[in-house]
Amino acid sequence: MKMILDLDTGIDDTFALMYAIANPDIQLLGVTGSFGNVTRDQGIHNDLALLSMVGHQEIPVFKGECHPLFADHFTVSEGCEIFHGKNGTGDVEIPAKSIGSVQPQSAIDFIIQSVKTYGKDVTLVPTGSLTTMARVIQQAPELISKMHIVMMGGAAIQAGNNDKFAECNIAQDPDAADVVLSSGADITMVGLDVTMQTYTTQAFINKVRALGNTQATFFADMCDFYIKASNPYVPACAQDTFVLHDPLAVGVAFNPQYVRCVDVPLRVDTEEPGRGRIISDPLEVMAKKTPVHVALEVQNETFVSHLEETLYSFFSSFSEKE
Ligand code: BDR
Ligand code: CA
Repeated sequence: MKMILDLDTGIDDTFALMYAIANPDIQLLGVTGSFGNVTRDQGIHNDLALLSMVGHQEIPVFKGECHPLFADHFTVSEGCEIFHGKNGTGDVEIPAKSIGSVQPQSAIDFIIQSVKTYGKDVTLVPTGSLTTMARVIQQAPELISKMHIVMMGGAAIQAGNNDKFAECNIAQDPDAADVVLSSGADITMVGLDVTMQTYTTQAFINKVRALGNTQATFFADMCDFYIKASNPYVPACAQDTFVLHDPLAVGVAFNPQYVRCVDVPLRVDTEEPGRGRIISDPLEVMAKKTPVHVALEVQNETFVSHLEETLYSFFSSFSEKE
């Protein structure tokens, strides 16, 4: 399958990128950089370095939007720094020998061109703010019926993680999220409703570290940061786990059977006090407006075993001193 990842390359975005590259059945057409966990430019720096680290410099990286629709600048929040470090990879330096360069074409043009060429045969997987996706929809509304999006973001029937209303990716740009979710495109929302149920463990991260090569060591160090940062915020039963937000979106894009969805037209509340909350308009529901597929149940064990096997075999493929 063909995929474009739209990342705000923090730690679970890095995890998602590694999972997509490790899966031989996914053809990653490109990575587009957005803002959120880090600035767009830091995220793009991370994308280029990560691709170089795993020997995939051929995958092109494109610049997406660098601030939300409602502002002319963007500053990384303290919360994002706590979970992802200042550099987005838990303050662990990415061990890359050579780092490529960003493409001259914009992410918006690249996505438009890809959807024109492949239609729904390319799956767009945004795992950060939805600003670039919203700009695509605004610039090329004629492509809406050809777009296939599997997004990490939102919380449909539970509280947010940015505040009690909003999930972090939606909170980065609620107006853009409203443009995307109400667009009528074919969208699967992989939100906190399912991602909070999917996690890998410190034991798996330790197993990867034991491989001993540079790539595996980087990955394990980065994941350790996230697990340590998360521990104070999760219940006793979830200590030493790594919640797989963004990797689950990649998983669902690859295998939709990992989740069961309820179909309902969605909007995003753009007004305070619930700015960023996922809502529905009863009139649109009754009029059977094109729904969003909202993931509410996940085949956790099947997904996590596939992810762990795929990543372990991927990191095993690097030699000791590479
Ligand atoms: C989402 O927010 C970001 O911090 C994570 O990378 C993930 O995409 C989880 O709410
Ligand atoms: Ca993300």
